[in-house]
Amino acid sequence: MTPAIEARALTKRFGAFTAVDAVDLRVEEGELFGLLGPNGAGKTTLVRMLTGLLAITSGEARIAGVDVRTDPDGVRQVLGVVPQALTSDLDLTAYENMDIYARYFGVDRGARRVRIEELLTRTGLWERRKELVSKFSGGMRRRLEIVRGLIHKPRVLFLDEPTIGLDPQSRLVIWDILRDLRKGDSLTISLTTHYLEEAEALCGRVAIVDAGRIVALGTIAELKELVPGSRNLEDVFIHFAGRSLREEGAPKGGPPARRGR
Ligand SMILES: Nc1ncnc2c1ncn2[C@@H]1O[C@H](COP(=O)(O)OP(=O)(O)OP(=O)(O)O)[C@@H](O)[C@H]1O
Ligand SMILES: [Mg+2]
Repeated sequence: MTPAIEARALTKRFGAFTAVDAVDLRVEEGELFGLLGPNGAGKTTLVRMLTGLLAITSGEARIAGVDVRTDPDGVRQVLGVVPQALTSDLDLTAYENMDIYARYFGVDRGARRVRIEELLTRTGLWERRKELVSKFSGGMRRRLEIVRGLIHKPRVLFLDEPTIGLDPQSRLVIWDILRDLRKGDSLTISLTTHYLEEAEALCGRVAIVDAGRIVALGTIAELKELVPGSRNLEDVFIHFAGRSLREEGAPKGGPPARRGR
């Protein structure tokens, strides 16, 4: 079967500095895959190369079999991206935000309305579709942006820290949405997170990235087995990354209501 995400010796250098160092990765269709690692490990750089947002220095990347370097238009159609910064337009309604994306991806008129209703219903936002996004909480905006990334029925959805800055209740709502999205249509999800409990709750396999390399990869149960005496993912993380995520203080990220334009 064609893997959903495939990287071979994928490398990014900024001048003399190697941010991503010959990464090999294969994620199968339908996985909810976690990317973990300390600040500066290279997670975002890796994802930006995989999603065609950053030029690849060397190596290969394919999404659902589409070559990121040689077919950027093709790859745009098979992937959805939910960036860390909130990017929905505050001056538009929830429906309009969805509609703009749908048009951008060339979803035709009839399909647009059906698809938007389906996605907004799944996130509990259909009743509020006519409200300006400026009236939404951070959690509601995040929900909207997650389904906006699915408007063109991509095969793989990339999320960069989707619950950063959210209160615990909103975080649980997002978790439920992500679990729900995977049902049925074999969507593959790649999730970058600093919250180990989030990875434990959601992810099948995880990769721990450190200094541009994948230093551990497997299901959480498999990784725990590799680290004798480990009680949780935190212990596993410390073993492989040599330090705790918490030692670095709060994860980066602006206030939830940052304007995205
Ligand atoms: N445009 C750039 N020019 C030079 N160096 C860069 C650039 N982008 C990233 N880097 C460096 O590459 C390394 C990896 O950064 P990256 O943002 O991928 O890490 P990350 O794992 O996403 O970290 P975080 O958890 O803080 O988001 C860092 O040392 C960073 O400073
Ligand atoms: Mg990052």
